[in-house]
Amino acid sequence: MSQYMIETNNLTKKYGEQAGVFEASLHVRPGRIYGLLGRNGAGKTTIMRMLLGLTEPTAGQIQIFGKPLHGNERRILPHVGSLIESPGFYPNLTGTENLRIFAKLRRIKNPEAIPEALALVNLPYKDKKLFSQYSLGMKQRLAIALTVMHDPDLLILDEPINGLDPIGIAEVRRFIRELCDKRGKTIMISSHILSEIALLADDIGIIDHGRLLEEESLHELEQKNRRYIYLEVSEPERAAKLLAEKFALSGADCETDGGKGLCIYKMQVQIQDILPVLIQNDFSVSCAKICEDTLEDYFKKVTGGEGIA
Ligand SMILES: Nc1ncnc2c1ncn2[C@@H]1O[C@H](COP(=O)(O)OP(=O)(O)OP(=O)(O)O)[C@@H](O)[C@H]1O
Ligand SMILES: [Mg+2]
Repeated sequence: MSQYMIETNNLTKKYGEQAGVFEASLHVRPGRIYGLLGRNGAGKTTIMRMLLGLTEPTAGQIQIFGKPLHGNERRILPHVGSLIESPGFYPNLTGTENLRIFAKLRRIKNPEAIPEALALVNLPYKDKKLFSQYSLGMKQRLAIALTVMHDPDLLILDEPINGLDPIGIAEVRRFIRELCDKRGKTIMISSHILSEIALLADDIGIIDHGRLLEEESLHELEQKNRRYIYLEVSEPERAAKLLAEKFALSGADCETDGGKGLCIYKMQVQIQDILPVLIQNDFSVSCAKICEDTLEDYFKKVTGGEGIA
């Protein structure tokens, strides 16, 4: 039995000659929020569509709840809730009426399912407001109510905060967290917004040009983000040489940035020990501080490209 709720092995989807997704091996652990992070066109939706049986992989395997998805769709997918495209709600019905239609289609028997789902996303049960009069945030909340109405164990949400205002984003973030913490759901969300994923996800998969480049817990990622000493000094190359000698630094421990900057990555070396050495050797130091790479820096480094919002 797999320890993962979702596990893929070399999952690939080709569109013609172009790969939409290439050999992605994902691991989603139970009871956690997994954030799939990537720029537009990275392959997030394609991965989710394959996980939901909406599109056939070209190659590779998918296991959900420890079973191969292929051949077990009817057993697995009823326990998965998804938000990929916006559901076709009827504009001239209320939220509750819309959910009733879907409950009937899905043969949901529990009479509490609709009020519970609405309560979860903070929408009223008895309300005269028509779907067409809903704000974008309310529409999105109703869509999420629909994904949890049948009480699935696993939720797959494609960019659930897209198009929401900051208050809507904070709300959606809160109830996604609650679904995980209080109701024990495993949740996979995608986003192209790094700060969103950093705020919400426990585990992060970074995808770029269809390839899964990194998969780590947020905690590990934060630890990886290096702390270092940054100095601005006259003649940085010569200063680097001197410090390397004095403090037994390797080339990787001590790097110049091509300008006046000099970075020291060895944390055992203290800023107060470095400065006197530089000054005694007639270097002028205009800046000395301890820095930390942000997730944004890390994302740039991993994808070898530009940052992400
Ligand atoms: N049906 C399709 N036919 C051909 N190419 C496709 C199809 N669907 C997706 N693609 C291509 O596959 C790549 C991945 O697309 P996908 O929609 O999965 O990315 P995404 O990460 O969800 O992007 P976005 O952030 O814009 O939603 C893109 O280059 C896209 O153009
Ligand atoms: Mg997409």
